[in-house]
Amino acid sequence: MGQVTPDDTGTAGGDRPFVVLGVSAGIAAYKAVEVCRRLVDAGAHVAPVLTDRATRFVGRATFDALGSEPTQTSVFDEVSAIPHTRLGQRADVVVVAPATADLLARYAAGLADDLLTTTLVATAAPVIVCPAMHTEMWEHPAVQANLATLVARGVTVVPPEDGRLAGGDLGSGRMAEPETIVDAVLDLLDRRTPVTADLAGLRVLVSAGGTREAIDPVRFITNRSSGKQGHALAAAALRRGADVVLVTTSSLPRPAGAEVVEVETAAQMEDAMLERAAGADVVVMAAAVADFRPKVATDTKLHKADGIPELVLEATNDILSELGRRRRPGQVLVGFAAETDDVAGRAQAKLVAKGVDLMVANDVSAPQVGFDHDTNAVTIFGVDGTVTSVPLATKGAVADAVYDRVARLVGDPPT
Ligand code: CTP
Repeated sequence: MGQVTPDDTGTAGGDRPFVVLGVSAGIAAYKAVEVCRRLVDAGAHVAPVLTDRATRFVGRATFDALGSEPTQTSVFDEVSAIPHTRLGQRADVVVVAPATADLLARYAAGLADDLLTTTLVATAAPVIVCPAMHTEMWEHPAVQANLATLVARGVTVVPPEDGRLAGGDLGSGRMAEPETIVDAVLDLLDRRTPVTADLAGLRVLVSAGGTREAIDPVRFITNRSSGKQGHALAAAALRRGADVVLVTTSSLPRPAGAEVVEVETAAQMEDAMLERAAGADVVVMAAAVADFRPKVATDTKLHKADGIPELVLEATNDILSELGRRRRPGQVLVGFAAETDDVAGRAQAKLVAKGVDLMVANDVSAPQVGFDHDTNAVTIFGVDGTVTSVPLATKGAVADAVYDRVARLVGDPPT
């Protein structure tokens, strides 16, 4: 586990980083005690904030003893100190562990009916939530929708794990281990430094969206890709100082500053990508390219009266494999793999088969992941054997995680 020092975090005045530890009413509250202790050990100033009902699981005296200041539970404890806004204003990070289904719902709705929710609504600091609940509750669409709302607003989720739950049941919903939570907090404190222009001077070529393969002038075959992840990759590369060309099928807003090439079909995308790849330092193939297209597209509309057409399909070219064959020394090549089963096995096989440096895999059968969501959760496999997991986050944050890996490769290409 890392340590935070004033110099690491850049906290104004050389103070220790100020962490509000919110605890809501779940049995996992006992693990929050360990989170508190570890954060203090790591050099943070920890202000514990318990909901009223959380005190039924763990007494406030425990947090008083381990935290950096007395535990607070109510907006009315010391009204003159205006705790409901002061805590949020002072916080460098707010972490809620455990975050119950009820707490997530109240936070997602913007309710502010106790000290913890007022702090969450009043703060501009980054927020981490660590859900903990029974499997049935964790999988409920309302809980997942609330979580997605929060993630879309920039909240970081440390997802629950599989294991023993209250009452002896087994399943997913058990709060992440204290060490994992503390690492996430320290990671966020580290990231408060502004984004560096670590891709400055590099030419980044990104593809985005699902291709459309015509059947006739009004119908086509396509897939569920929205282009959101590809556009987020283009925007992130621009933020990090790169010159960006975006080849896209999507009508999403164009990231300001990118050269945009609009395409529709796999063949058009292939032409656009191969033509520009020679001049690129980094190529990111985030598009969902059709594997098959109708062999013949009619010039005129097919009508019902003509009978049901027999569609004969033919394979498209694999653009990424071709980019892999043609790439020049030093060029970094990134592929994406949207899978529903054996995610790691399939992604690693594609990594090798297509000759890329990084394969970004997502399990599109998981809630709030992949197609058309604003959020994603991925695992990045490197040809050097490295594996990086990125838990549910905005597509912008996923893009940054990809470029964190790319930046290392650009500086230190595999031999
Ligand atoms: N890809 C490509 N050209 C194609 C198909 C895919 O460039 N004709 C790229 C995608 O942009 C992605 C990667 O290859 O970066 C993996 O795509 P995916 O659809 O997961 O793999 P496929 O090669 O289509 O394999 P399968 O259909 O067996 O999943």
